[in-house]
Amino acid sequence: MPRVSIATTTVLSCVLFVALVHPATALAQSTSGTDTTLAVYPGLLGYIYLGCYNETLDITNDRAIYGGNVTKSTDMTVGKCLEICKGGGSYNYAGLEYTSECWCGPYLSDFSQKLEDGQCDLGCAGNNSQACGGALRVSVYKLQSNSAIGVLSGRISTRLVILASAVCAAVLLQ
Ligand SMILES: *[C@@H]1O[C@H](CO)[C@@H](O)[C@H](O)[C@H]1NC(C)=O
Ligand SMILES: *[C@@H]1O[C@H](CO)[C@@H](O)[C@H](O)[C@H]1NC(C)=O
Ligand SMILES: *[C@@H]1O[C@H](CO)[C@@H](O)[C@H](O)[C@H]1NC(C)=O
Repeated sequence: MPRVSIATTTVLSCVLFVALVHPATALAQSTSGTDTTLAVYPGLLGYIYLGCYNETLDITNDRAIYGGNVTKSTDMTVGKCLEICKGGGSYNYAGLEYTSECWCGPYLSDFSQKLEDGQCDLGCAGNNSQACGGALRVSVYKLQSNSAIGVLSGRISTRLVILASAVCAAVLLQ
């Protein structure tokens, strides 16, 4: 009996650990039930996917992501946009819209509403299988605060999850 509860505790700890070190994976998986064939890019450089948001031009005369600037590129990808927003001043928000627009800014409008992921139905100009917003729809990414969890991102985080899983498996199989 004690062995069972130790094993159970270890499994639970491992699951919790993996979920905590890789919030981007947890977020991406929780929204993967949609029918879209587009891949939601989980994140990079501390940015994680927040969701597909509504553009706000009609009522605020400003954009969902505001206070920064926009870069357009015929070879835009999510990764490229996150690099632009990080390099341009570590903006809190990065958003992709209408295949080729990368919006960087410190604020996300309160008027902007989170929609179904499938509403961001246009591929990136530079990679047609990645979601890059839609018509007046923005694939929004948020820079995590400078916490232990926040700085873990992208490939580094994925490697840590693999490492953590391996350690968990090794402990369990002992
Ligand atoms: C999108 O946002 C606008 C505000 O700009 C709002 O009026 C509208 O109801 C929203 N539409 C949807 C589908 O959420
Ligand atoms: C605008 O974005 C670029 C990145 O394309 C960045 O380097 C630059 O600092 C930004 N300019 C302003 C005025 O925010
Ligand atoms: C395009 O995006 C998909 C989904 O994120 C990714 O798996 C693939 O490697 C990307 N292709 C290129 C050429 O970067």
